[in-house]
Amino acid sequence: MALYYDSPSRTFNEYLLVPGYSSAECIPDNVSLQTAVTRYRAGEAPAVTMNIPLVSAVMQSVSDDKMAVALAKEGGIAFLFGSQSIENQAEMVRRVKRHKAGFVSSESNVRPDQTVADILELKEKTGHSTVAVTHDGTASGKFLGLVTSWDYRPSRMDPNTPVSEFMTPLEDLIHAKEGVTLKEANDIIWGNKLNALPVLDKKGRLISFVFRKDYDRHKANPQELLDTDKSYIVGAGVNTIDYKERIPALVEAGVDVLCIDSSEGYTEWQKLVLDFVRETYGDEVKIGAGNVVDRDGFRFLAEAGADFIKVGIGGGAICITREAKGIGRGQATAVIEVAKARDQYFKETGIYVPICSDGGIVHDHHVTLALAMGADFCMLGRYFARFDESPGRRVMVNGSYMKEYWGEGSNRARNWERYDSGGDKKLTFEEGVDSYVPYAGSLGDNVALTLAKMRSTMCNCGALTVTELQEKARLTLVSSVSIVEGGAHDVVLKDQTGQN
Ligand code: IMP
Repeated sequence: MALYYDSPSRTFNEYLLVPGYSSAECIPDNVSLQTAVTRYRAGEAPAVTMNIPLVSAVMQSVSDDKMAVALAKEGGIAFLFGSQSIENQAEMVRRVKRHKAGFVSSESNVRPDQTVADILELKEKTGHSTVAVTHDGTASGKFLGLVTSWDYRPSRMDPNTPVSEFMTPLEDLIHAKEGVTLKEANDIIWGNKLNALPVLDKKGRLISFVFRKDYDRHKANPQELLDTDKSYIVGAGVNTIDYKERIPALVEAGVDVLCIDSSEGYTEWQKLVLDFVRETYGDEVKIGAGNVVDRDGFRFLAEAGADFIKVGIGGGAICITREAKGIGRGQATAVIEVAKARDQYFKETGIYVPICSDGGIVHDHHVTLALAMGADFCMLGRYFARFDESPGRRVMVNGSYMKEYWGEGSNRARNWERYDSGGDKKLTFEEGVDSYVPYAGSLGDNVALTLAKMRSTMCNCGALTVTELQEKARLTLVSSVSIVEGGAHDVVLKDQTGQN
C-alpha cells in the first residue's frame, strides 16, 4: 500500500519566526552571514564557504559570467547555466576567473572598415559611447584605436565614413600594459585626464579597459568572494548525460564548485556522476547534487559523496512540474525534513553535508525562514532574474520595465538533459514557463537590502550566525486569519509614493 504522510506539506508563507532573547551584542553589524558550501568533518573547515547564504540558479535567464562576477562581489556564488555547449560554458568560467575588479572586458568593438552608421547602431544597442577598434572587431583583437563621441558628428558626416578615418589611432592614445595594477591604472587616468585606459598584451591585443567613472566602485568590497589568486569564485551546473566531457572542461577552465542540475536527484544517474568525479579527481573537485525533498533522497546522495545537497521540487516561480507530473513537496516541509536528516547523518558519521533550499523564495524573509529551518544557503532564480546583471532582456510591458525570466524546462530553454529519465533526447512536455518579472535595478543595491532585513530578523531571534539561527530559531505555523493580520489592515493606505 502506498505511504501516506500524516501532515500536509507546507510552504514558507505558512510560517513565522517567534522572536527570542536578544543581548546587547545582537546588532546587525555583528551578524555574520558566512556559511558552509561543501561537506566537512567535525572540527575541520569546509573547503568552500560563502560570505552570504545566496547562490544564483543554474538557468539561462539567471546565471552567466556577468551575474557570477556581480554576485561574487557581494559574497555569494553563481552557478553558470549548463544548457549550453561545453565550450561556451567553459569560456564563461574563464571570463569570470580572468575578471579583475576594475578591469572591464570591452563590450563595444568594431573593425576599422565599419562605418559611422555601425557605431550609431552599436551605441543604441549597448548604450556605451566608448568603442574599441580592433582588427577583427572582437574584444580581444589587435587594438588599433578608439572611438568616443568626441570623434564624430553624425549630423555632418556621411554615414558610410569608415571608422579608420575618424578614430583616434593607437599612436595618439595612452595605454597600459598587461600586469598593470588598478592603482597604477587609476594614477595614469588621473594624471592624463583620461576617461578610459585600454590595457594591451605584449602582442598589442586588447585585454580590458579601466574607466574613470568606475573609480568609486573599485573600492574593495569586504564581502567579495575570491580564490587564492584573487579571482572571483564561480560555480557551474552539469548534467547526468555529458558529464564525462563537461566536467573535465570546466575543471580545466578553473571552476571552483560544480552542481548536478536535475529536476529530481534521487537517482542512480546522480551516483554515477559523483562516482566519476571521485574516481577522476578524488576530493579535489567539489560537486553538489539534487534535488531531493526527503530523508531518503538526502541519505542516498550524502552516502554517494555529494558535497552539498539541493532541496526542492516544484516550488520554483516558473515551475509547473507539480501541475504537469503531480510530484513535488511544499518547500518548507522539504527543507525541515532534509535538515533533520542532515543533522542525523552528522551525528552518526561526523560529516556535515550542507543543504541548499532551491526555489520558491518570494519575499526576503523567506531566505531567513529557510535558514532557520536548517538550510545552509538558498538558491534563487526569480530574485536574481530581476536585476541589471541577469542575461534576460529588459522590456517595457504595459508601461513598466520587466526582465525576461524563463524556466529550464520551458520550450524556450529546452534543457531536456535536466528532465531526462532515460527516454529519447528531447523535451517531451514542458515543466516550466516563459515569463516576465518586474525589473528591480542593480544586484548590489537589492542584495544589500535583503541582507539588511535578514540581519535584523536574526538579531530579533538572538542569533549572530547562521548556525546560531538554526539552533535558536522558534517557528510557528500561521492560521489563514493571522496572515491577514500580518499585512497592513483596517487602514486606508495613502499614496504608495508617500507624497500625501
Ligand atoms: P525560483 O527562485 O522560485 O525562481 O526558482 C528557481 C529554481 O526553479 C531553480 O533553481 C530550479 O531548481 C527550478 N527550475 C528552473 N527551471 C525550471 C523549470 O522550467 N521547471 C521547474 N523548475 C525549474
